[in-house]
Amino acid sequence: MDDYFGEDVAASYDDDGPMFTGEFVTPTVDFLAELAGDGAALELGIGTGRVAIPLARRGVPVHGIDLSEAMVARLRAKPDGAGISTTIGDFATTRVDGTFRLAYLVFNTIMNLTTQDAQVACFENVSRHLERVGYFVIEVMIPDLRRLPPGERYVPFEVNATHVGIDEYDVANQGLISHHYTTRLNSVPFRYVWPAELDLMARIAGLTLHERWGDWDRSPFTRESRKHVSVWHRPGS
Ligand SMILES: C[S@@+](CC[C@H](N)C(=O)[O-])C[C@H]1O[C@@H](n2cnc3c(N)ncnc32)[C@H](O)[C@@H]1O
Repeated sequence: MDDYFGEDVAASYDDDGPMFTGEFVTPTVDFLAELAGDGAALELGIGTGRVAIPLARRGVPVHGIDLSEAMVARLRAKPDGAGISTTIGDFATTRVDGTFRLAYLVFNTIMNLTTQDAQVACFENVSRHLERVGYFVIEVMIPDLRRLPPGERYVPFEVNATHVGIDEYDVANQGLISHHYTTRLNSVPFRYVWPAELDLMARIAGLTLHERWGDWDRSPFTRESRKHVSVWHRPGS
């Protein structure tokens, strides 16, 4: 499996804008801490610990899975990061010891799995790791296809003096490559995925929708929402 978060990306990952500020992270951690309660949490794609470290500081034991040794090395080098246990592997298939009250996958990371099979496998893997009463949270963008005129493939999502971000859509295959031009080009392939399809994947994995919001602050999810925060649980739990 290709690792798009090698040393070059990991070195500057934490400098990457507003997602790393307390204004963004605190509502995320509030939301997750409430669902975790007195249980443990599993972060899929833990990265450098942007969310895991503040969640662990709230008293939630967090275990992380990530493919990238370089990202996890950054996590371990941080104050409070060394205490977070991690497993290097593919979060669609990697098993870790124990069960969890909460599993979560934030910042569009479900889209890093670039096939439907892998996304379904991820839901099934999470389901195996959840306690009987347990929650799976995904934060992911709504595909920006309303901004794509017929015949066009490219949607610029951020253009300023220091960053040009262009999403390249492949609507035949539900594919998306995010091109980031800064001082160098970084292009990451994704598979975009709709809320209804995620609900179906959850159903395949024995889970059902618990709640869906437009953001971590529980603002409503509407037809104008650019992203969603969705929570699935086991039916009847
Ligand atoms: C956008 S970063 C998010 C990191 C962290 N969750 C955050 O919110 O800052 C995506 C992370 O997922 C990891 N990743 C992507 N695909 C993966 C996979 N199939 N299995 C494990 N980790 C993966 C990358 O190495 C990277 O650390």
